[in-house]
Amino acid sequence: MSIVSSNINRAIQLLSEDQLVAIPTETVYGLAGNAFSEKAIRSIFEVKKRPFFNPLIVHTHSIDAVTNFISYFPEKAKLLAEAFWPGSLTLVLNKKPLVPDLVTAGKNTVAVRIPNHKVTLELLKLLPFPLAAPSANPFGSISPTQSKHVAEYFSSTIPMVLEGGACENGLESTIVGFEDEEPVVYRLGAISLEEIEAIVGEVIVKNISKSAPSSPGMLLRHYAPSTPTVFVQDIPLELSRHKNKKVGVLSFFADFSKYDNVQTIILSSSKDMKQAAAQLYAGLHQLDQLDLDIIIAERFPDHNLGKSINDRLFRATQNK
Ligand code: TXA
Ligand code: MG
Repeated sequence: MSIVSSNINRAIQLLSEDQLVAIPTETVYGLAGNAFSEKAIRSIFEVKKRPFFNPLIVHTHSIDAVTNFISYFPEKAKLLAEAFWPGSLTLVLNKKPLVPDLVTAGKNTVAVRIPNHKVTLELLKLLPFPLAAPSANPFGSISPTQSKHVAEYFSSTIPMVLEGGACENGLESTIVGFEDEEPVVYRLGAISLEEIEAIVGEVIVKNISKSAPSSPGMLLRHYAPSTPTVFVQDIPLELSRHKNKKVGVLSFFADFSKYDNVQTIILSSSKDMKQAAAQLYAGLHQLDQLDLDIIIAERFPDHNLGKSINDRLFRATQNK
């Protein structure tokens, strides 16, 4: 029997028993547990095989609820919260002591987000506790943007995926922290840098790290298919190097079906970066299942969501 279900009452029951439920959000599906339950949080790390140094995002339903977990709300954080919540923005703010160390990896900050998804907002309103949730994929692999992606990863390890359709944005949230009151972007994501800067002015971006970093989770290799994958500007040139191989191309808008050895996934034939972002992980999942020798991913124009997409594709193609 499939673990995918729309039964929100069952999700509430399982979460109240410290079990895990995968939840839909507008970015990617999350692997959720009661943020105040040590048992639930431990199983999140276990199921994902995620190292404990990598803290989790706490999801809740209102700015009021957020103020229960944080000790200080910088002015520019408030501006961003008002502009983008509910939505694909995660704020890293100083935490109150009640937020468990296991959730924050012992840091004095907590990452918080109000997701913009009807089903999950309803769930969060009905629950008496917030949900800690990383993306619902094994550590380092491609994030899930459909319930079936989660079921493929975890059908034997979690009891339920709450159905919420395909994720509308398809890229993880943009993470913004504060250093001396000034916003610092720790992860590019579904809200573009340009949109953030339109609210708070120019921001610093600190989003690359190789081991256990101060802004963890931005590990170099992440979001990766199991098929060898390269990330290039010039697809025809790269194709000329792989003539005798089975090749998958993840293309922004161009069609490569005239090559016999190539399967192409076009992310947006109308050249719309928002649509391309929404299709990105589903495209990678699909190509990864075709038993190909190599996946060639196309570099996007380096602005707006193209910057966030390039960040993910770059990480997807780094060596282990
Ligand atoms: O869109 C999203 O953000 C999805 C959905 C489910 O909400 N969640 C998600 O979670 O992408 P995850 O665990 O895959 O990524 C969370 C990121 C990690 O890079 C983690 O290091 C960072 O947030 N993070 C969490 N708490 C932090 C903190 N206190 N300081 C700095 N970075 C933090
Ligand atoms: Mg993740």
